[in-house]
Order: sequence, then structure tokens, then C-alpha cells
Amino acid sequence: MRKKIIAGNWKMYHNPTDTMSFFEKFKDMVAGSNHEIVICVPYIDVSAALEATKGTNIKIGAQNLNHEKAGALTGDVSCKMLEDIGVEYSIIGHSERRQYHHETDDFINLKIKAAFDHEIIPILCVGESLLEREKGIAKYKICTQIVMDLDGLTTEQAKQVVVAYEPVWAIGTGKTASAQDAEEACKWIREEIRTLYGDEVADAVAILYGGSVKPENAKAIFNMPNIDGGLVGGASLDPDSFSKIVNWDR
Ligand code: 13P
Repeated sequence: MRKKIIAGNWKMYHNPTDTMSFFEKFKDMVAGSNHEIVICVPYIDVSAALEATKGTNIKIGAQNLNHEKAGALTGDVSCKMLEDIGVEYSIIGHSERRQYHHETDDFINLKIKAAFDHEIIPILCVGESLLEREKGIAKYKICTQIVMDLDGLTTEQAKQVVVAYEPVWAIGTGKTASAQDAEEACKWIREEIRTLYGDEVADAVAILYGGSVKPENAKAIFNMPNIDGGLVGGASLDPDSFSKIVNWDR
């Protein structure tokens, strides 16, 4: 059975002081959880988050990385730096980075490979826009992203990738995909991975849903057979709401 992963994405919210008070409260609320708990924080909060979660069952992730080891790349942070400090995960290819920073699938593929070179587990985000869903090309869009973003991985690497299906129209809008629609899309992703990497990888890979996940809808979504947890934005900022999502089955 695949383990559930409940990941938070703080986006550009919370400073290091907020980070410390968040974890002070949150760590006890999820202490007995069997799920993999990951919070992807802004770079400025990484040190405080790692310090605050030492010896707990909470893992810290970044929200982006640069694939180069080092270089004249103003404002960027490399995988090597993240690895050195103890970051274990990174979101890659979030729709906000695709949209506002014009990140292409080729570039995202480079980042995924670089993450694996540095023992960082990538949380790859894919998903269609509202227009693409309305035109009936959601499956085509998502599967194309999977093919391009996961190109050239080894079987072992492909097994470890975490994919987050995040329909762009459901992010921060309060509109959630129905549990059935989310399940359908996560199944498309799993079947595409089966075609690319075979049964062993497809059956092992974790596929999360993201887009307006809340304590009220988490259970219905996480109970779906092809959904292995969630990537949560807004509701991960508050220890009460995020712990309820982590503890969805308790
Ligand atoms: P919301 O949960 O705020 O809709 O954000 C989802 C998301 O983008 C997670 O990466």
C-alpha cells in the first residue's frame, strides 16, 4: 500500500517568526500521524523550519530550485544548497512558476533531474487551465506535461517522484475539483506513467491532489484509490486547519 503524503505549500506567506510559532503548535497536533508530512516553505524560512522540526515527523521542502550547482544566477538557490542545509523535498513546476516565471517543461525536466542528483525528492505539479478543461483537452495537457517533465529518469528515480495534480482553476479559488474528477485525472497520470515506466513504477508513484483542499473536503478526496494525499496551499498556513487535513482519517 502506498503511504499518504500530506504536503503544505506556504507560497509567499509567513516569515521566520511566524514559522516558529506555527511549528510550536503544529508539531504536537500531528505527532502520532502515520502519513508523510511535508511543508514547503519560502527560502527565508528554511532554517527556522528545520530547527523547529528537528526530531519530529515533519519534513521540510522548498518551493523551487535552480538546476545548476552554482553560478552567476542572481536570486536563485541551487539544489546543492538545499541538500546541504537538510531540505528533503522541493516543489517543481508549480503552475504559478509556469505562469509568472515562464517555466517550460524542458526546464522543469532539468530541475527534476538535478533534484535527484542531490537527494531531493521532487513534487512535480501538473494540471490544466479552465479553458483547457472546457475544450476537453485536460487529459492531453496533463499527459503531455508528464511525458516531458519526467523524460529520461531511471526506474528508481521515477518511482520516487511525487506528482501533484493541481488544476489551475481550483488553486486559491475555493473551487475544488470533485473527488471523482480529481480521481479521474490522477488515474490518467498513473496510466501515463505506466506507459512510460511500467507497472512497478506506476503502482509505486505517489500522486497528490491540490486545489482548495480544506478540512471539509480532504477525506472524500484522500479516500480515492489513485489519490495518495494532497498539496495544500491556503489551508496549510494555519496549524488548526492543516492538522485537521493531516489527521483526515483519525
Ligand atoms: P490552495 O490550496 O490555496 O488552492 O493552493 C493549492 C496549491 O497551489 C498548492 O500548491
